[in-house]
Amino acid sequence: MEWTSLNDLRESYLKFFESKGHLLHKSYSLVPENDKTLLLIVAGMAPLKKYFTGELTPPRRRMTTCQKCIRTNDIENVGYTARHGTFFEMLGNFSFGDYFKEEALPWAWEYLTEVLKIPEEKLWPSVYEKDDEAYSIWKDKIGVREDHIVRLGKEDNFWELGAGACGPCSEIYFDRGEKYGCGKPTCKPGCDCDRYMEIWNNVFSQFESDGEGHYTELKSKNIDTGMGLERLACVMQGVDNMFEVDTIQNILKAISDRAKVKYKDNPKSDVSLRIIADHSRASAFLIGDGVMPSNEGRGYVLRRLLRRACRHGRLLGIEGAFLGDIIEVVAHENLTAYPELTEKLDYIKKIAVMEEERFDATVESGMNVLDQLTAEAKKNGKDKTRN
Ligand code: SER
Repeated sequence: MEWTSLNDLRESYLKFFESKGHLLHKSYSLVPENDKTLLLIVAGMAPLKKYFTGELTPPRRRMTTCQKCIRTNDIENVGYTARHGTFFEMLGNFSFGDYFKEEALPWAWEYLTEVLKIPEEKLWPSVYEKDDEAYSIWKDKIGVREDHIVRLGKEDNFWELGAGACGPCSEIYFDRGEKYGCGKPTCKPGCDCDRYMEIWNNVFSQFESDGEGHYTELKSKNIDTGMGLERLACVMQGVDNMFEVDTIQNILKAISDRAKVKYKDNPKSDVSLRIIADHSRASAFLIGDGVMPSNEGRGYVLRRLLRRACRHGRLLGIEGAFLGDIIEVVAHENLTAYPELTEKLDYIKKIAVMEEERFDATVESGMNVLDQLTAEAKKNGKDKTRN
């Protein structure tokens, strides 16, 4: 396997599935269309939900996308862990009543082992514990060693997202090596330690869920796969952390230059650098897709991301508006896949900087109030801590 840039990985995946008859569709907007159940797009299949249920007819029964996604449920972990980010891209190939497990699993294996040349012994498939069919495809059709296939329960190997298409899944894990492991003899994919990293999820979307635990069989059997582009880039670039992937590292570098702070000098400032890198990516794409900062819904998600980025900028000692310059780097790093960010750059920067200035004004007026209260307390002799 060879070091491959994030932009080249995206292209190679999409080309591979185009060569297998899939229609390549550019990423849908982060703002769901005609779907009141979702605030933002959180998975590659989300904009395609109605093709799975048969409510709409897809332009082709095989499609492939690299979808922009935002997940903010773990926002507090961003910056502190290797893998949490609010913005990520999900590579996916989809079948709407066309091919099923027999094709999807061998293609996934072919892409990883023949195109990317990841050594087979590094890869471990998992299947839903009752899915003998998927197990035998891995073992007999693809030829994966039996001791490299694991059966896992519903919590790991059944995928659903609220109401809509769902089903059992088969994941592919990458073995990062013993040094990341817990050392227990039972350590395998599904273990809580960092050794086995899930990279690709192949969902056999056979059911429709009403979101309340009731499932009905769908008319057609579908395939919904999802592979995090940043995670795959970590594997192909041999880095531990999504912030060290080439394009994201360039964004982080621009922030550290601006703050005159070196990455990896101090764990506290590293957290701030990573938060700003992640949040400026997410904000640039959200504004590009028409979201405006506000106090509710997705506007609030954006406001929170922008303000957290500003706050961490101040913690790093950056003075004055800086987000516009960082967003420029985000647009540049994404020029090939998302030229619209560069086309709308002036507008995106303007919205971000307006919010940054509003945030600064709020902080400043808060500081003035605090200064006044402190001065009054001092005057009245109430500034000493009482025991
Ligand atoms: N929908 C599945 C996921 O998000 C596979 O694409 O993991």
